[in-house]
Amino acid sequence: MTDTPFTLTLPFPKVIPSKVEAHIKRPLSSLRGMFADEEAYERMLGQEDTLVYEVFEIKRNEEVGELALGVSVVHPGVVGAEFFMTKGHFHSVLETAEVYYCLQGEGFMVMETPEGDTSVAALRPGTVLYVPPRWAHRSVCTSRQGDLVTLFVYPGNAGHDYGTIEKQGFRKLVIDGGNGIAFVDNPRWKKEAGS
Ligand code: PA5
Ligand code: NI
Repeated sequence: MTDTPFTLTLPFPKVIPSKVEAHIKRPLSSLRGMFADEEAYERMLGQEDTLVYEVFEIKRNEEVGELALGVSVVHPGVVGAEFFMTKGHFHSVLETAEVYYCLQGEGFMVMETPEGDTSVAALRPGTVLYVPPRWAHRSVCTSRQGDLVTLFVYPGNAGHDYGTIEKQGFRKLVIDGGNGIAFVDNPRWKKEAGS
């Protein structure tokens, strides 16, 4: 990797970066155990392994001083009543933050700390979200038509701790409540021993 300044573009309307080092695809099968309605999940997966989200990464060295960046695209859809979402994670280095800039779509960032604080931030084109250190984060697309597209930037040394969320889930779920979008307590949330 050359260590010289570089530019890239996010050409509208697709806003996929002109420079991409990694394209990660997360189909439904990679999100087993993450949606509350397991029957709906299995039914849907039995029909098609739908693409739920994608990440286009500009890779940098995973070290202090570097910034990792990329574009996250969460596609529209539901599993039961729960909107399509990313796996979500804490940073392995918990004391690292992240910035998101919403480029397209409608959705929310669901966040929580190990201490039990929760927060849900609406994402619309133009919204800049600052996720402070210690907050796990998950993007949720609540449009039935369009993708939720965000640009993210985080410290190169942050790392991703997926395991904690895989075991305990997020405290809040974002669902289609019939009369609109609802934020409900996750009935299956359970503190992971030792976290
Ligand atoms: O670092 C981030 O928070 C983002 O780049 C996410 O990795 C991206 O949105 C995909 O989510 P996840 O890493 O939870 O699969
Ligand atoms: Ni992150």
